[in-house]
Amino acid sequence: MNEKLVISVSGKGGSGKTTATALILRYLIERGGKTILAIDADPATNLPDVLGVSIEKTVGMVESELKEKLGRSEIPASVTKKEFLEGQIYRILVETSNFDLLAMGRSEGEGCYCSINYLLTSIIDSISKNYDLTIMDMEAGLEHVSRRTDRDVDLMLVVTDPSRMGLQTASRIRELAKEVHIDFKKAYLIGNQFPPESEQQLRIKAEEMGYELAGLIPTDPSVASFNATGRPLLELPPSSPALIAISGITQRLDLGN
Ligand SMILES: Nc1ncnc2c1ncn2[C@@H]1O[C@H](COP(=O)(O)OP(=O)(O)O)[C@@H](O)[C@H]1O
Ligand SMILES: [Mg+2]
Repeated sequence: MNEKLVISVSGKGGSGKTTATALILRYLIERGGKTILAIDADPATNLPDVLGVSIEKTVGMVESELKEKLGRSEIPASVTKKEFLEGQIYRILVETSNFDLLAMGRSEGEGCYCSINYLLTSIIDSISKNYDLTIMDMEAGLEHVSRRTDRDVDLMLVVTDPSRMGLQTASRIRELAKEVHIDFKKAYLIGNQFPPESEQQLRIKAEEMGYELAGLIPTDPSVASFNATGRPLLELPPSSPALIAISGITQRLDLGN
């Protein structure tokens, strides 16, 4: 029996979370053998585009619909709100041949019935149990940590670019996780767009912050050009330096079998 594994990818906005998530997914698909759920937990909802998957609805949209239906008393009293939402969430889950994808989107309007963060927590608790592995592209910054959205995450991957802000955000995420008592099996730092010679220096910094350095992803012109032309990163050629780096990184993570 495979153990279920939940991975979150977080860090500063623009540090490379979505890129890293897509590259890890691509590696896992190629390796095969696991059922995978990818969750876009960033309200900007970039992951579907980067993966080349179109989504019709986000959890945020379903949540607003629920609110409207409740306002018009259109939901039978025999169905609880939680049941209704869960049913709808299964319907908006996009299935591809290699993985399933769910986009959280954002809560619309004021006074929403339940926050997206709360919904995400319950999704991690329920829907992700059906998959060997769940990988989540988190919202930029710290809020998901302070709200403890990450509390059931096994592996926390934090992406930083070489900027001071990137490293500062990574450091705060780790501190805050300790403060709010989130217990990961492991917390890894990934250095994105770092030159290879800075690895040792970043490893020392990572360990000072309480991370293990998973590795570096180089700046890869093919990632930039795929992005500019809207080609999915899942189609990167095997020779892509970022892809080669991510397979080394992913092999270093403790993913079970
Ligand atoms: N290793 C890389 N090589 C080249 N471009 C990259 C690399 N990593 C990220 N980028 C580019 O930087 C931008 C931000 O990356 P993205 O993954 O969207 O960041 P985030 O999800 O953290 O906001 C994107 O345009 C992406 O194509
Ligand atoms: Mg992103």
